[in-house]
Amino acid sequence: MSTSRRGFLRGLAGAGAGAAATGLAGCAPDISPAPVANANKDDDGRVRLLVSRYPDLAREGGAITLRVPGEQNLLVTHPGGNQYAVVSSTCTHSGCPLAFEQGEIVCPCHLSRFTLQGQVTNPPAKAPLTAFVARFDADKGELLIDFKAGDTDFPAVVDGKLFFPFSLYPQLRTAGSVVQGVPEGYGRLLFVFALEGGTYSAVDGICTHQQCPVSYDEAGRDLLCPCHDSRFTQTGEVTAGPALATGPLQRFTATSDASGVLVAIS
Ligand code: FES
Ligand code: FES
Repeated sequence: MSTSRRGFLRGLAGAGAGAAATGLAGCAPDISPAPVANANKDDDGRVRLLVSRYPDLAREGGAITLRVPGEQNLLVTHPGGNQYAVVSSTCTHSGCPLAFEQGEIVCPCHLSRFTLQGQVTNPPAKAPLTAFVARFDADKGELLIDFKAGDTDFPAVVDGKLFFPFSLYPQLRTAGSVVQGVPEGYGRLLFVFALEGGTYSAVDGICTHQQCPVSYDEAGRDLLCPCHDSRFTQTGEVTAGPALATGPLQRFTATSDASGVLVAIS
């Protein structure tokens, strides 16, 4: 089955939401985070899991917390059949590791609940989990998790660079404008800002505190993390919130010529 960042397993989301509506009212000490397993990426930024080697994942209704060097931890779930889903494994409320119970992602600490795509169905968490692209090859029994997958309607990384032609992104000619998306070959949210004076800024869109995706705040003309309200300037500097302790957003060199804006990713 093929999955996408936006559309993965939508058919199961309603079932998750219904269960959340009848969710528990207090802590549930009998709910444990998914057991931990380790895996490595290949040179293309992909992880290949032979599912039969992970009994906690192989069983229907199972899940594992997957640690991959250089990446945030993942919650890999197996709701049934050949269906798998992959999201970030840390609750966006206060950072507890997540569990998978009866087809639903649940936080053992304060019972936030999420759909398999990471959308919040029960507070106190208010920000979604990050969903990752994954494909299950039933013939091989292999689950492929792609950390470098991106949006099909956004420029892809070519030879370590991203190009935003003014013909397609005319707004970048105007100071104060912003373009955002997940480039194929980078796999993470990226913002490109047209700054005053004809210069440009490109910053990673993942908060340095607990890895939540940030969003552009039109009112403040800056970047706001929905998880714990850290704020970042258009050049990635932290101005407020717990990210003051963890540092600025990753910044990339952005230059322009008459044809467009070039961002060096590597
Ligand atoms: S840390 Fe998950 S609900 Fe509080
Ligand atoms: S993840 Fe905590 S402020 Fe961003």
